[in-house]
Amino acid sequence: MHSVIIKPVNKLSGTICIPGDKSISHRAVILGSLAKGTTRITGFLESEDCMRTVEIFRQLGVDIAVSGNEAVITSNGLHGLKEPKGDLYAGNSGTTMRLMLGVLAGQKFTSRITGDDSLCKRPMKRVTEPLRRMGAKITGRVKNYDEYAPFTISEGQLSQKKRPPSLIPSAQVKSAILLAGLYAKGKTSVFEHFKSRDHTERMLKYFGVNLDIEEEGEGCGVSIEGGSRLKAKDIVIPGDISSAAFFIVAASCLEGSEITIKNVGVNPTRTGIIDVMKRMKADIKLKNEKIISGEPRADIIVKSSRLQGTTIEPGEIPRLIDEIPIIAVAAAFAQGKTTIKGVSELKVKESNRLMAIRDIFHYFGIRLNDYSSKRLVIPGGQNTKPKTFPGSLCNSLGDHRIAMTGIIMGLMAKGETIVYDTDCINTSFPNFIEILKKMTPKGTIKVEK
Ligand code: S3P
Repeated sequence: MHSVIIKPVNKLSGTICIPGDKSISHRAVILGSLAKGTTRITGFLESEDCMRTVEIFRQLGVDIAVSGNEAVITSNGLHGLKEPKGDLYAGNSGTTMRLMLGVLAGQKFTSRITGDDSLCKRPMKRVTEPLRRMGAKITGRVKNYDEYAPFTISEGQLSQKKRPPSLIPSAQVKSAILLAGLYAKGKTSVFEHFKSRDHTERMLKYFGVNLDIEEEGEGCGVSIEGGSRLKAKDIVIPGDISSAAFFIVAASCLEGSEITIKNVGVNPTRTGIIDVMKRMKADIKLKNEKIISGEPRADIIVKSSRLQGTTIEPGEIPRLIDEIPIIAVAAAFAQGKTTIKGVSELKVKESNRLMAIRDIFHYFGIRLNDYSSKRLVIPGGQNTKPKTFPGSLCNSLGDHRIAMTGIIMGLMAKGETIVYDTDCINTSFPNFIEILKKMTPKGTIKVEK
């Protein structure tokens, strides 16, 4: 287990490239494995989470070669998967587990999928219940009115005639149903009140699948025809905005900073962080905007500025769900109060992120006015002079985004910070420390066993 020791810095500067988008990388492997022919992926995120998805498809008989950020998939198509020999292992990856439940529900063989301790404690009924309503045969561990891995999935007859009740806004749930819908008889529809990230829909279209998409206010309905065939196609994945978020916030808070983050995914279902930071008076500009492989991308230029507090409404949460811990840091530095509403989903991420934010703020001596399951209230004004926080010791709780949040706070603290248990960063951003070292004076960041 490694720890990271961080010394405060005055500012961040330079141009960086961040690794490929995690959500899109998972989907490229999944859809590439269901598309007949050869799919070449460029900009693939070779992180532990995405490699779990790769390993699972290899176990299901798909030929996948990964070399750095390039992956080549050769598949026999939608009905070409083979019965796996042993258990399928999703590690720490919620996206792998939930999306694979959708794929496995449509197969003519039995499989068993499990994950690490943290993943086996994450609620899965949100996926298993709608899949069962489609005819999937899934058994898991039932506990406290929810359901948990490991799961056994056996052959079922999938079909869905009526639009099911509205889902919690979760791209993982929506995607699992759409993937199962590929194997279902007739049309499968999903609806969510607040639109969540739409990478699955965009990539299905990119692979030649017809979808009916209807926006309804802040919500969205999607329908897919069973048996739709995917045509293998090369994909270029943009950088992950959820990884860029750490640098966007750090550069906004540290006076005199100016950074450029090249080629970041700016899909509107993911850019909540940019909208919120701009509302907080951050100086953020997009340049070189273009759409490649159905996904928008741009260079993001961030200069430091005096941030102001804001209110984030529940409808915005799906567009920035993974960025809330680092947005909370920006809020602590801002002038005036920030309220983040509708945060209950944070309790069931890789850690209970509401508690993790409370703990991390406590380590750094930052006040929180409310961290109930409904909202976070952060009194601002804690940034009149960055570097007023004493350095601290904090634990990642095995959660990659909490580890990186702690490290970024360490850059802005007064003394030295130690963040324990940082290996989890490899699940989404394996070269985070390397990039940070390039942007800071020698000796700022030290990694220890
Ligand atoms: C993801 C969706 C989000 C997000 C997760 C990745 C995806 O989860 O938090 O990190 O790739 O679909 P929910 O869909 O459960 O909100």
